[in-house]
Amino acid sequence: MLGYSSFLSESRFRINTLMSATSTAANDRTRLVIGNWKMHGNLSDNAALLAALRPAATTTQVAVCVPFPYLAQVAEALQGTAVSWGAQDVSTQVQGAYTGEISAPMLKDFGCRWVLVGHSERRSMHGESDQLVADKARAALAAGVTPVVCVGESLAERDAGQAIAVIHRQLAPVLALGADSVTKLVVAYEPVWAIGTGRTATPEQAQEVHAAIRAALQAVGAGNVQILYGGSVKASNAASLFSMPDIDGALVGGASLVADEFLRIAA
Ligand code: PGA
Repeated sequence: MLGYSSFLSESRFRINTLMSATSTAANDRTRLVIGNWKMHGNLSDNAALLAALRPAATTTQVAVCVPFPYLAQVAEALQGTAVSWGAQDVSTQVQGAYTGEISAPMLKDFGCRWVLVGHSERRSMHGESDQLVADKARAALAAGVTPVVCVGESLAERDAGQAIAVIHRQLAPVLALGADSVTKLVVAYEPVWAIGTGRTATPEQAQEVHAAIRAALQAVGAGNVQILYGGSVKASNAASLFSMPDIDGALVGGASLVADEFLRIAA
């Protein structure tokens, strides 16, 4: 008869086998394409863009992350459509004397589904630490909003051969949230040198880092988390990126402001 501990190790073996099978099969996780509008838009431009997105009907999950003042506008414009929406940042706190901050329960109040945390522009321009980013992810999860945790190395770090080490450092406090939390979030790999520069990582460069992220997630029992690539994604390079086994979708900046381009990426 199988003892309890051999049963456990047998189950673990089965789960690990299943997970590595999952990670090597090309794109069997639902593809997810999220637009990051950054600090762009106004009521009338948004209305035109959202009207063009309304009919989107793909097997890909599609979402847009918009500036805070326009959350209500997107909530209304995208109601009843297949396109979901989110914010670009969130406070670590639930409520209180935190002038200028927006809490996760406030986002949830509007029906917000996603929130970006740790975008490189926030890490570099607002001094966000790896721990702060993990705290934001935890706050989002507690309110039922899915955090999209952004990680990525600078060009200097890549040139110094530090890309994977940087990603591990950035992910560490997020992984410390534990399997129950980590299985509910999304990771976006965005090499800083590829953001807004027109210089996309090659599919092979991106895949190498995605595989390392997958392994780190697997190690905490969250190997099936969606891992998005971001950095100058366009309709012309999306398909080759998506053909990689560990690239489950994209976080799209500039190209998400052009409806036709964005929809072709998500097609
Ligand atoms: P980009 O931005 O697509 O304009 O490079 C991506 C991002 O910053 O999320």
